[in-house]
Amino acid sequence: MQSGVEFRIREITRDDIPALERMLYLAIHVPEGQEAPLFEIIYQPDLYHYVENFGQANDLGFAAELNGKVIAAAWARNLADPELPGYGYVDEATPELSIVVEPAFRGQGIGTRLLEALHQELSQRGVKQISLSVQKSNPARKLYERQGYQTFEVRGEDLLMVKILGKI
Ligand SMILES: CC(C)(COP(=O)(O)OP(=O)(O)OC[C@H]1O[C@@H](n2cnc3c(N)ncnc32)[C@H](O)[C@@H]1OP(=O)(O)O)[C@@H](O)C(=O)NCCC(=O)NCCS
Repeated sequence: MQSGVEFRIREITRDDIPALERMLYLAIHVPEGQEAPLFEIIYQPDLYHYVENFGQANDLGFAAELNGKVIAAAWARNLADPELPGYGYVDEATPELSIVVEPAFRGQGIGTRLLEALHQELSQRGVKQISLSVQKSNPARKLYERQGYQTFEVRGEDLLMVKILGKI
């Protein structure tokens, strides 16, 4: 953590949707040597459903705020539409994780703190497990493994990972 920099961790509300849209864009993993996509890519249905109308009954997320600006977020959402399931879909009862930290603030423990807050609150709500999809080449894999996520299925270049949430 940078010395003297204090982040506030708080729950995400529907007022954060514009910030979540930005986070969704930053969460798109661009393999080295490839060009970043246009921002508008987030409005593709397979991506936009991660943030659309966020704040529904089963939605839960935490943001890290610095001087009133969201600089990181981790959120869980059930994306079980059979026509368009989430990339990390396992079953109807398992929410899927999205997580992103602004590039300038990565590697300082913020992602870990957000994940821990999210896991704890999901456990308190009685949610049994959480899933995610990550590209094999994404260094974020290491963080997920440290946080107890295990590979559930290999899907081409992606891994579907699941973490069993402990009892609180
Ligand atoms: C993945 C991510 C949310 C982690 O947040 P963070 O605050 O950087 O993480 P922490 O500081 O708590 O933990 C560090 C771990 O994050 C991962 N990490 C660090 N920098 C990263 C980066 N630039 N990209 C992806 N993962 C990174 C590594 O696993 C690292 O562990 P290590 O130090 O043992 O290598 C953040 O790096 C990020 O936003 N990455 C880009 C978006 C992304 O890949 N999201 C996940 C999509 S599945």
